[in-house]
Amino acid sequence: MKILVVGSGGREHVLSWALRRSAGVMDVFAVPGNPGMLPGAQPVPGKIEDLESLADIAENLKADLTVVGPEAPLCKGITDVFKARGLKVFGPSAQAAEIEGSKIFAKEFMVRHNIPTARHRVFTEHDKALAYIKYNKGSHVIKADGLAAGKGVFICDTPEEAETALNKILTERAFGDIGQGVIIEEKLEGEECSFMVLCDGERVVKLASSQDHKRALDEDKGPNTGGMGAYSPAPIVTKEVEDRIMNTVIKPAIKGLAEEGRPYQGVLYAGLMIKEGLPFVLEFNCRFGDPEAQAVLVRLGEDLAPLLKAVAEGELEERDLKWDPRTALCVVMASKGYPGEYEKGIPIDGLDDVENIPDVRVFFSGVATDPEDGQMMTSGGRVLGVTALGDGISDAQVRAYDAVGKIHWDGAFYRKDIGDKGLKK
Ligand code: AMP
Ligand code: GLY
Repeated sequence: MKILVVGSGGREHVLSWALRRSAGVMDVFAVPGNPGMLPGAQPVPGKIEDLESLADIAENLKADLTVVGPEAPLCKGITDVFKARGLKVFGPSAQAAEIEGSKIFAKEFMVRHNIPTARHRVFTEHDKALAYIKYNKGSHVIKADGLAAGKGVFICDTPEEAETALNKILTERAFGDIGQGVIIEEKLEGEECSFMVLCDGERVVKLASSQDHKRALDEDKGPNTGGMGAYSPAPIVTKEVEDRIMNTVIKPAIKGLAEEGRPYQGVLYAGLMIKEGLPFVLEFNCRFGDPEAQAVLVRLGEDLAPLLKAVAEGELEERDLKWDPRTALCVVMASKGYPGEYEKGIPIDGLDDVENIPDVRVFFSGVATDPEDGQMMTSGGRVLGVTALGDGISDAQVRAYDAVGKIHWDGAFYRKDIGDKGLKK
Protein backbone atom coordinates (compact mmCIF):
# COMPACT_ATOMS: atom_id res chain seq x y z
CA MET A 1 0.00 0.00 0.00
CA LYS A 2 1.16 3.54 -0.82
CA ILE A 3 0.13 6.36 1.48
CA LEU A 4 0.25 10.11 1.06
CA VAL A 5 0.26 12.29 4.19
CA VAL A 6 -0.77 15.94 3.93
CA GLY A 7 1.05 18.34 6.24
CA SER A 8 4.52 19.08 7.58
CA GLY A 9 4.38 19.24 11.39
CA GLY A 10 5.14 16.94 14.28
CA ARG A 11 1.71 15.34 13.98
CA GLU A 12 2.35 14.48 10.33
CA HIS A 13 5.81 13.21 11.24
CA VAL A 14 4.44 10.75 13.79
CA LEU A 15 1.64 9.76 11.41
CA SER A 16 4.18 9.05 8.64
CA TRP A 17 6.33 7.06 11.06
CA ALA A 18 3.41 4.97 12.37
CA LEU A 19 2.03 4.39 8.88
CA ARG A 20 5.42 3.33 7.50
CA ARG A 21 5.73 0.72 10.26
CA SER A 22 2.40 -0.85 9.35
CA ALA A 23 2.49 -4.22 7.60
CA GLY A 24 1.84 -3.95 3.88
CA VAL A 25 2.78 -0.27 3.62
CA MET A 26 5.55 0.00 1.03
CA ASP A 27 5.83 3.77 0.60
CA VAL A 28 4.83 6.87 2.49
CA PHE A 29 4.98 10.32 0.90
CA ALA A 30 4.23 13.62 2.60
CA VAL A 31 3.27 16.96 1.05
CA PRO A 32 5.18 19.08 1.86
CA GLY A 33 6.53 16.91 4.70
CA ASN A 34 9.69 17.76 6.59
CA PRO A 35 13.31 16.58 6.54
CA GLY A 36 12.89 14.54 9.74
CA MET A 37 10.55 12.15 7.95
CA LEU A 38 13.36 10.76 5.78
CA PRO A 39 14.11 7.99 5.03
CA GLY A 40 10.80 6.44 6.18
CA ALA A 41 8.66 8.94 4.30
CA GLN A 42 9.55 10.98 1.24
CA PRO A 43 8.73 14.71 1.25
CA VAL A 44 6.99 15.92 -1.93
CA PRO A 45 6.74 19.64 -2.74
CA GLY A 46 3.23 21.09 -2.75
CA LYS A 47 0.88 23.52 -1.06
CA ILE A 48 -1.66 22.18 1.42
CA GLU A 49 -4.21 24.84 0.48
CA ASP A 50 -4.25 23.83 -3.20
CA LEU A 51 -6.70 20.96 -3.04
CA GLU A 52 -6.86 20.07 -6.73
CA SER A 53 -3.08 19.91 -7.01
CA LEU A 54 -2.96 17.69 -3.92
CA ALA A 55 -5.40 15.38 -5.67
CA ASP A 56 -3.10 15.48 -8.75
CA ILE A 57 -0.19 14.44 -6.54
CA ALA A 58 -2.19 11.56 -5.00
CA GLU A 59 -3.20 10.43 -8.50
CA ASN A 60 0.32 10.65 -9.90
CA LEU A 61 1.78 8.73 -6.98
CA LYS A 62 -1.06 6.18 -7.27
CA ALA A 63 -1.62 6.59 -3.51
CA ASP A 64 -4.01 3.99 -2.09
CA LEU A 65 -4.88 6.33 0.76
CA THR A 66 -4.30 9.99 1.64
CA VAL A 67 -4.16 10.91 5.33
CA VAL A 68 -4.82 14.58 6.06
CA GLY A 69 -3.08 16.01 9.13
CA PRO A 70 -4.06 19.68 9.58
CA GLU A 71 -7.47 21.30 9.91
CA ALA A 72 -7.09 23.94 7.18
CA PRO A 73 -7.39 21.63 4.13
CA LEU A 74 -10.12 19.62 5.88
CA CYS A 75 -12.22 22.72 6.55
CA LYS A 76 -11.60 23.80 2.96
CA GLY A 77 -13.01 20.50 1.67
CA ILE A 78 -10.04 18.31 0.69
CA THR A 79 -12.05 15.18 1.45
CA ASP A 80 -14.88 16.30 -0.81
CA VAL A 81 -12.45 17.10 -3.66
CA PHE A 82 -10.66 13.76 -3.31
CA LYS A 83 -13.89 11.76 -3.11
CA ALA A 84 -15.27 13.51 -6.19
CA ARG A 85 -12.16 12.34 -8.01
CA GLY A 86 -12.48 8.77 -6.74
CA LEU A 87 -9.50 9.03 -4.37
CA LYS A 88 -9.51 7.36 -0.95
CA VAL A 89 -8.93 9.83 1.87
CA PHE A 90 -8.83 9.83 5.69
CA GLY A 91 -10.46 12.94 7.16
CA PRO A 92 -13.94 14.41 7.55
CA SER A 93 -15.86 16.29 4.87
CA ALA A 94 -15.90 20.10 4.98
CA GLN A 95 -19.38 19.98 6.52
CA ALA A 96 -18.31 17.62 9.29
CA ALA A 97 -15.06 19.58 9.82
CA GLU A 98 -17.12 22.63 10.70
CA ILE A 99 -17.16 21.20 14.21
CA GLU A 100 -13.67 22.73 14.40
CA GLY A 101 -13.83 25.34 11.62
CA SER A 102 -16.60 27.36 13.22
CA LYS A 103 -16.53 27.66 16.97
CA ILE A 104 -20.03 29.14 16.82
CA PHE A 105 -21.37 26.16 14.89
CA ALA A 106 -19.69 23.89 17.44
CA LYS A 107 -21.22 25.70 20.43
CA GLU A 108 -24.70 25.72 18.93
CA PHE A 109 -24.34 22.06 17.94
CA MET A 110 -23.44 21.18 21.54
CA VAL A 111 -26.44 23.06 22.84
CA ARG A 112 -28.73 21.27 20.33
CA HIS A 113 -27.43 17.85 21.41
CA ASN A 114 -27.09 18.44 25.15
CA ILE A 115 -23.33 18.02 25.13
CA PRO A 116 -21.87 19.58 28.30
CA THR A 117 -19.90 22.78 27.59
CA ALA A 118 -19.37 26.28 29.02
CA ARG A 119 -22.27 28.76 28.68
CA HIS A 120 -21.63 31.20 25.84
CA ARG A 121 -22.79 34.32 23.99
CA VAL A 122 -21.90 35.53 20.50
CA PHE A 123 -21.12 39.18 19.62
CA THR A 124 -20.12 41.01 16.48
CA GLU A 125 -19.91 44.48 18.00
CA HIS A 126 -17.06 45.50 20.24
CA ASP A 127 -19.10 47.83 22.48
CA LYS A 128 -21.85 45.30 23.13
CA ALA A 129 -19.31 42.61 23.92
CA LEU A 130 -17.50 44.86 26.36
CA ALA A 131 -20.71 45.97 28.03
CA TYR A 132 -21.65 42.31 28.52
CA ILE A 133 -18.29 41.61 30.18
CA LYS A 134 -18.52 44.62 32.47
CA TYR A 135 -22.05 43.67 33.49
CA ASN A 136 -21.22 39.97 34.07
CA LYS A 137 -18.30 40.35 36.44
CA GLY A 138 -15.68 37.64 36.85
CA SER A 139 -13.49 35.75 34.41
CA HIS A 140 -14.37 35.18 30.78
CA VAL A 141 -12.87 33.35 27.85
CA ILE A 142 -12.95 35.22 24.55
CA LYS A 143 -12.59 33.30 21.30
CA ALA A 144 -12.34 34.33 17.67
CA ASP A 145 -14.65 32.32 15.40
CA GLY A 146 -12.83 30.37 12.67
CA LEU A 147 -9.37 28.81 12.66
CA ALA A 148 -6.55 30.50 14.57
CA ALA A 149 -4.06 27.63 15.19
CA GLY A 150 -4.95 27.56 18.88
CA LYS A 151 -3.99 31.19 19.32
CA GLY A 152 -7.35 32.98 18.99
CA VAL A 153 -8.39 32.25 22.58
CA PHE A 154 -7.96 34.70 25.47
CA ILE A 155 -8.54 33.94 29.12
CA CYS A 156 -9.50 37.25 30.68
CA ASP A 157 -9.71 37.76 34.42
CA THR A 158 -10.29 41.54 34.24
CA PRO A 159 -12.33 43.86 31.97
CA GLU A 160 -9.02 45.41 30.81
CA GLU A 161 -7.75 42.05 29.57
CA ALA A 162 -11.09 41.47 27.88
CA GLU A 163 -10.88 44.85 26.13
CA THR A 164 -7.42 44.03 24.78
CA ALA A 165 -8.67 40.69 23.45
CA LEU A 166 -11.74 42.27 21.84
CA ASN A 167 -9.51 44.89 20.20
CA LYS A 168 -7.27 42.19 18.77
CA ILE A 169 -10.11 40.09 17.41
CA LEU A 170 -12.72 42.63 16.35
CA THR A 171 -10.74 45.81 15.61
CA GLU A 172 -7.26 44.72 14.54
CA ARG A 173 -8.59 41.51 12.98
CA ALA A 174 -5.43 39.79 14.20
CA PHE A 175 -6.97 36.44 13.25
CA GLY A 176 -8.24 37.56 9.87
CA ASP A 177 -11.86 37.03 8.99
CA ILE A 178 -13.77 36.71 12.25
CA GLY A 179 -16.38 34.49 10.71
CA GLN A 180 -19.59 35.08 12.57
CA GLY A 181 -18.00 37.08 15.39
CA VAL A 182 -16.57 36.55 18.81
CA ILE A 183 -17.65 34.07 21.45
CA ILE A 184 -17.60 34.95 25.13
CA GLU A 185 -17.68 31.94 27.41
CA GLU A 186 -17.82 31.43 31.13
CA LYS A 187 -14.44 30.27 32.38
CA LEU A 188 -14.48 26.64 33.47
CA GLU A 189 -12.29 25.41 36.30
CA GLY A 190 -10.84 21.91 36.49
CA GLU A 191 -8.17 19.90 34.73
CA GLU A 192 -7.88 19.57 30.96
CA CYS A 193 -7.41 16.44 28.89
CA SER A 194 -7.63 15.44 25.26
CA PHE A 195 -9.71 12.52 24.04
CA MET A 196 -9.61 11.30 20.46
CA VAL A 197 -11.64 8.65 18.68
CA LEU A 198 -11.67 7.18 15.19
CA CYS A 199 -15.08 7.13 13.55
CA ASP A 200 -16.22 5.80 10.18
CA GLY A 201 -19.43 7.83 10.17
CA GLU A 202 -21.14 5.51 12.60
CA ARG A 203 -18.82 3.16 14.46
CA VAL A 204 -16.35 4.51 17.01
CA VAL A 205 -12.98 3.29 18.28
CA LYS A 206 -11.30 5.03 21.24
CA LEU A 207 -7.69 6.17 21.20
CA ALA A 208 -5.65 6.43 24.41
CA SER A 209 -6.22 9.53 26.53
CA SER A 210 -3.67 12.33 26.71
CA GLN A 211 -3.04 15.72 28.24
CA ASP A 212 -1.70 18.75 26.40
CA HIS A 213 -0.01 21.82 27.92
CA LYS A 214 -1.50 24.80 26.09
CA ARG A 215 0.17 27.72 27.81
CA ALA A 216 3.61 28.84 26.69
CA LEU A 217 5.28 28.87 30.11
CA ASP A 218 5.68 26.65 33.18
CA GLU A 219 2.78 26.39 35.64
CA ASP A 220 0.33 27.21 32.87
CA LYS A 221 1.46 30.83 32.60
CA GLY A 222 1.86 32.92 29.48
CA PRO A 223 -0.24 32.98 26.31
CA ASN A 224 -2.07 30.03 24.74
CA THR A 225 -0.13 28.12 22.09
CA GLY A 226 -0.82 25.20 19.77
CA GLY A 227 0.51 22.97 22.59
CA MET A 228 3.89 22.82 24.37
CA GLY A 229 3.95 19.16 25.34
CA ALA A 230 1.74 16.16 26.01
CA TYR A 231 1.70 12.79 27.67
CA SER A 232 -0.41 9.66 27.41
CA PRO A 233 -2.23 8.12 29.16
CA ALA A 234 -3.68 10.92 31.30
CA PRO A 235 -4.39 9.67 34.86
CA ILE A 236 -7.28 12.14 35.13
CA VAL A 237 -9.13 9.96 32.61
CA THR A 238 -10.05 7.04 34.85
CA LYS A 239 -12.28 4.30 33.47
CA GLU A 240 -15.26 6.05 34.99
CA VAL A 241 -14.37 9.42 33.42
CA GLU A 242 -13.73 7.71 30.09
CA ASP A 243 -17.19 6.14 30.16
CA ARG A 244 -18.72 9.55 30.85
CA ILE A 245 -16.75 11.11 27.99
CA MET A 246 -18.00 8.42 25.63
CA ASN A 247 -21.61 8.59 26.80
CA THR A 248 -22.08 12.34 27.25
CA VAL A 249 -19.71 13.75 24.62
CA ILE A 250 -18.45 11.40 21.91
CA LYS A 251 -21.52 9.29 21.19
CA PRO A 252 -23.98 12.23 21.17
CA ALA A 253 -21.60 14.17 18.91
CA ILE A 254 -21.19 11.37 16.37
CA LYS A 255 -24.93 10.67 16.40
CA GLY A 256 -25.80 14.37 16.19
CA LEU A 257 -23.49 14.99 13.25
CA ALA A 258 -24.96 12.02 11.38
CA GLU A 259 -28.52 13.20 12.13
CA GLU A 260 -27.68 16.66 10.83
CA GLY A 261 -26.46 15.21 7.55
CA ARG A 262 -22.76 15.63 8.33
CA PRO A 263 -21.61 12.07 9.10
CA TYR A 264 -18.18 12.16 10.71
CA GLN A 265 -15.45 10.04 9.13
CA GLY A 266 -12.01 10.65 10.57
CA VAL A 267 -10.49 11.34 13.96
CA LEU A 268 -12.63 13.40 16.29
CA TYR A 269 -10.74 15.23 19.02
CA ALA A 270 -12.50 16.51 22.11
CA GLY A 271 -10.60 19.04 24.23
CA LEU A 272 -12.18 18.62 27.67
CA MET A 273 -12.21 20.20 31.07
CA ILE A 274 -12.77 17.60 33.80
CA LYS A 275 -14.48 19.10 36.80
CA GLU A 276 -15.19 16.82 39.74
CA GLY A 277 -15.13 13.84 37.40
CA LEU A 278 -17.51 15.39 34.86
CA PRO A 279 -16.35 16.26 31.32
CA PHE A 280 -17.13 19.62 29.67
CA VAL A 281 -16.14 20.28 26.06
CA LEU A 282 -13.77 23.20 25.46
CA GLU A 283 -13.47 22.49 21.75
CA PHE A 284 -13.79 19.83 19.10
CA ASN A 285 -11.08 19.36 16.51
CA CYS A 286 -11.47 17.52 13.23
CA ARG A 287 -7.98 16.00 13.29
CA PHE A 288 -5.32 14.50 15.53
CA GLY A 289 -4.02 16.84 18.24
CA ASP A 290 -0.48 18.13 17.93
CA PRO A 291 1.47 17.27 20.15
CA GLU A 292 -1.07 14.74 21.49
CA ALA A 293 -0.63 12.54 18.41
CA GLN A 294 3.07 12.19 19.15
CA ALA A 295 2.38 10.91 22.69
CA VAL A 296 -0.59 8.72 21.74
CA LEU A 297 0.62 7.12 18.51
CA VAL A 298 4.01 5.98 19.84
CA ARG A 299 1.97 3.84 22.26
CA LEU A 300 -0.29 2.26 19.65
CA GLY A 301 0.33 -1.49 19.87
CA GLU A 302 -0.98 -2.32 16.42
CA ASP A 303 -0.76 -1.10 12.83
CA LEU A 304 -2.17 2.35 12.13
CA ALA A 305 -2.62 2.03 8.37
CA PRO A 306 -5.46 -0.55 8.36
CA LEU A 307 -7.32 1.45 11.00
CA LEU A 308 -7.24 4.69 9.00
CA LYS A 309 -8.11 2.80 5.82
CA ALA A 310 -11.10 1.19 7.54
CA VAL A 311 -12.28 4.65 8.62
CA ALA A 312 -11.96 5.96 5.06
CA GLU A 313 -13.87 2.96 3.70
CA GLY A 314 -16.62 3.16 6.33
CA GLU A 315 -15.74 -0.29 7.63
CA LEU A 316 -14.30 0.29 11.06
CA GLU A 317 -14.70 -2.57 13.53
CA GLU A 318 -15.77 -1.45 17.01
CA ARG A 319 -13.28 -2.91 19.48
CA ASP A 320 -10.59 -1.92 22.01
CA LEU A 321 -7.19 -1.22 20.47
CA LYS A 322 -3.91 -2.54 21.93
CA TRP A 323 -1.65 -0.02 23.68
CA ASP A 324 1.86 -0.03 25.08
CA PRO A 325 1.20 0.14 28.85
CA ARG A 326 4.08 2.60 29.35
CA THR A 327 3.69 6.38 29.45
CA ALA A 328 4.76 8.45 26.46
CA LEU A 329 5.76 12.06 27.10
CA CYS A 330 6.48 14.66 24.42
CA VAL A 331 8.30 17.92 25.19
CA VAL A 332 7.96 20.59 22.51
CA MET A 333 11.06 22.68 21.86
CA ALA A 334 10.06 26.04 20.40
CA SER A 335 11.60 29.22 18.97
CA LYS A 336 12.06 32.17 21.33
CA GLY A 337 9.06 34.46 20.87
CA TYR A 338 6.52 31.73 19.96
CA PRO A 339 3.47 32.04 19.88
CA GLY A 340 4.34 35.60 18.82
CA GLU A 341 7.08 36.66 16.40
CA TYR A 342 10.24 34.55 16.20
CA GLU A 343 13.38 34.23 14.09
CA LYS A 344 13.89 31.42 11.59
CA GLY A 345 16.94 29.79 10.02
CA ILE A 346 18.87 29.11 13.24
CA PRO A 347 21.08 25.98 13.09
CA ILE A 348 20.02 23.10 15.39
CA ASP A 349 22.77 21.05 17.08
CA GLY A 350 22.71 17.72 18.86
CA LEU A 351 20.12 15.84 16.81
CA ASP A 352 22.66 13.09 16.06
CA ASP A 353 23.20 12.57 19.78
CA VAL A 354 19.60 11.58 20.40
CA GLU A 355 19.01 9.54 17.26
CA ASN A 356 19.80 6.16 18.78
CA ILE A 357 18.55 6.48 22.34
CA PRO A 358 16.15 3.57 22.96
CA ASP A 359 12.50 4.57 23.29
CA VAL A 360 13.19 8.22 22.41
CA ARG A 361 11.96 9.71 19.13
CA VAL A 362 12.28 13.28 17.94
CA PHE A 363 9.41 14.43 15.76
CA PHE A 364 10.13 17.49 13.62
CA SER A 365 7.74 20.43 13.21
CA GLY A 366 9.26 23.72 12.10
CA VAL A 367 12.51 22.37 10.69
CA ALA A 368 14.15 22.93 7.29
CA THR A 369 17.53 21.96 5.87
CA ASP A 370 20.15 24.46 4.76
CA PRO A 371 20.26 23.92 0.97
CA GLU A 372 24.06 24.44 0.97
CA ASP A 373 25.23 21.98 3.60
CA GLY A 374 22.15 20.03 4.72
CA GLN A 375 22.34 21.43 8.29
CA MET A 376 18.99 21.30 10.13
CA MET A 377 17.62 24.77 10.88
CA THR A 378 14.57 26.16 12.65
CA SER A 379 11.73 27.19 10.35
CA GLY A 380 8.73 27.55 12.64
CA GLY A 381 7.46 28.38 16.12
CA ARG A 382 7.21 24.84 17.39
CA VAL A 383 10.39 23.14 16.19
CA LEU A 384 10.74 19.66 17.72
CA GLY A 385 8.67 17.23 19.77
CA VAL A 386 11.06 15.14 21.83
CA THR A 387 9.10 12.04 22.83
CA ALA A 388 10.09 9.29 25.25
CA LEU A 389 8.46 6.14 26.59
CA GLY A 390 8.98 5.29 30.25
CA ASP A 391 7.55 3.25 33.08
CA GLY A 392 5.16 5.89 34.37
CA ILE A 393 5.23 9.65 34.04
CA SER A 394 8.38 10.40 36.01
CA ASP A 395 10.49 7.85 34.13
CA ALA A 396 9.21 9.19 30.80
CA GLN A 397 9.99 12.74 32.00
CA VAL A 398 13.59 11.83 32.90
CA ARG A 399 14.13 10.20 29.51
CA ALA A 400 12.50 12.98 27.49
CA TYR A 401 14.28 15.82 29.32
CA ASP A 402 17.63 13.98 29.10
CA ALA A 403 17.25 13.98 25.32
CA VAL A 404 16.03 17.60 25.27
CA GLY A 405 19.22 18.56 27.14
CA LYS A 406 21.35 17.25 24.28
CA ILE A 407 19.68 19.45 21.64
CA HIS A 408 20.63 23.11 21.29
CA TRP A 409 20.04 26.18 19.21
CA ASP A 410 20.16 29.90 19.93
CA GLY A 411 16.86 30.90 21.47
CA ALA A 412 15.39 27.40 22.02
CA PHE A 413 12.81 27.30 24.80
CA TYR A 414 10.60 24.61 26.28
CA ARG A 415 8.47 24.00 29.34
CA LYS A 416 10.21 22.20 32.17
CA ASP A 417 7.04 20.86 33.78
CA ILE A 418 5.45 18.63 31.13
CA GLY A 419 3.75 15.81 33.02
CA ASP A 420 3.95 17.37 36.49
CA LYS A 421 0.18 17.66 36.75
CA GLY A 422 -0.20 13.93 36.07
CA LEU A 423 2.39 13.14 38.76
CA LYS A 424 0.23 14.80 41.38
CA LYS A 425 -2.50 12.23 40.79
P1 AMP B 1 -9.90 26.13 22.59
O1 AMP B 1 -9.07 26.39 21.37
O2 AMP B 1 -11.30 26.58 22.47
O3 AMP B 1 -9.75 24.74 23.13
O4 AMP B 1 -9.21 26.98 23.74
C1 AMP B 1 -7.81 26.88 23.96
C2 AMP B 1 -7.55 26.75 25.45
O5 AMP B 1 -8.15 27.84 26.17
C3 AMP B 1 -8.13 25.51 26.09
O6 AMP B 1 -7.31 24.40 25.92
C4 AMP B 1 -8.24 25.95 27.53
O7 AMP B 1 -6.97 25.88 28.15
C5 AMP B 1 -8.63 27.37 27.41
N1 AMP B 1 -10.10 27.51 27.43
C6 AMP B 1 -10.93 27.57 26.38
N2 AMP B 1 -12.21 27.71 26.77
C7 AMP B 1 -12.19 27.73 28.10
C8 AMP B 1 -13.21 27.87 29.11
N3 AMP B 1 -14.50 28.04 28.80
N4 AMP B 1 -12.84 27.85 30.40
C9 AMP B 1 -11.53 27.72 30.75
N5 AMP B 1 -10.53 27.60 29.85
C10 AMP B 1 -10.85 27.60 28.55
N1 GLY C 1 -2.71 20.48 20.95
C1 GLY C 1 -3.99 20.99 20.70
C2 GLY C 1 -4.47 20.83 19.36
O1 GLY C 1 -3.94 20.09 18.56
O2 GLY C 1 -5.46 21.45 19.03
